[in-house]
Amino acid sequence: MPGAIHAEGLVKTFGRVRALDGVDLDVPEGTVLGLLGPNGAGKTTAVRVLTTLLRPDAGRAVVAGHDVLTAPDEVRRSIGLSGQFAAVDEYLTGRENLRMVGELYQMGSRAARVRAAELLERFHLTDAGDRPAKTYSGGMRRRLDLAAALVVSPPVMFMDEPTTGLDPRNRMELWSVIQDLVADGTTLLLTTQYLEEADQLAHDIAVVDHGRVIARGTADELKARIGGERVEIVVHDPGRIAAAVGVLGGFSRGEAVVERHTRRITVPVQGGARLLAEVIRELDARGVELDDIGLRRPTLDDVFMSLTGRAALEEDADGSGEPGGPGKLGGSGKSGGSGKSGGSGKPGDRTAPAPAGAAAAEPAHPKEAE
Ligand SMILES: Nc1ncnc2c1ncn2[C@@H]1O[C@H](COP(=O)(O)OP(=O)(O)O)[C@@H](O)[C@H]1O
Ligand SMILES: [Mg+2]
Repeated sequence: MPGAIHAEGLVKTFGRVRALDGVDLDVPEGTVLGLLGPNGAGKTTAVRVLTTLLRPDAGRAVVAGHDVLTAPDEVRRSIGLSGQFAAVDEYLTGRENLRMVGELYQMGSRAARVRAAELLERFHLTDAGDRPAKTYSGGMRRRLDLAAALVVSPPVMFMDEPTTGLDPRNRMELWSVIQDLVADGTTLLLTTQYLEEADQLAHDIAVVDHGRVIARGTADELKARIGGERVEIVVHDPGRIAAAVGVLGGFSRGEAVVERHTRRITVPVQGGARLLAEVIRELDARGVELDDIGLRRPTLDDVFMSLTGRAALEEDADGSGEPGGPGKLGGSGKSGGSGKSGGSGKPGDRTAPAPAGAAAAEPAHPKEAE
């Protein structure tokens, strides 16, 4: 298949870290696969292997009809890569950056100039095209980065966390650019930490954790599997948490997640706004006073909590800022049947505080990538 991505049994270790621990992937031509996972899951390593930047220790991969190990040059000629590592030269203008890429691909300077102008237009950068890239906002920079990966119209694209660190407006703008691209038939493998993003952009999702694919399916399938929507409440009085959990238990389709320090309780539900009204009445009848209540769609963290019994959010708050290695996530042990949680697996013992207010539907933003 000229535009497909296929990988089997990919393994890559760095010292004692198994960054990829037997990854199989299939992305049919013209479709989008979302590789969804928290920091340190192995997403970038997978992208680097598939784009020939890194040799796997085991396994094989065929990208755009070429084997990454035996025909890396052919693979490179058929792909575009944008994301965390793609280089935009800060001191060149947007236009110069794009022309330079075209010339690197030996397009000829006239063709490179025409292509640069086309891409600036397409990515709404024409007005900023003659300013140095270092004056661009985060969203503009990502668009330039994406444009650079598209100079030669590759049939297969890789995007490594294209919107991480962007504000919601820029994120949605980039989503629409990506959607246009995909509508043109490009095969895309996209990595993300946001279920919402995979939901918007991907036909299929593979959830990765510690170098393995732990679940796959469409966004709807994953959400159904973890029990759909969430009711989230913040109880006013910590002494009433147990009573509130009792009430929510009557509506819940799964286990409650309790975050004691924020007095926040989350349960999977089905039934939408009407159910919310019933929950409020019942809590009121039991004398549980609320500071906040809401219905929200599942996040990556919910998917993770369901699949692994621990939180997906990484401790960025501690300022370490590095990709999480094993043990950096959640750390509350497996729940549900692993038998080794031994009471330590407090479901609410999340490493990172839930983002406040409206941001609750998204994981905490890692620092803006430089
Ligand atoms: N070059 C490297 N040297 C050592 N460890 C690495 C290297 N690249 C990645 N790792 C480790 O491999 C794991 C997966 O990393 P990565 O693929 O970057 O994850 P993600 O992109 O999902 O955040 C992490 O534990 C990370 O620290
Ligand atoms: Mg990464």
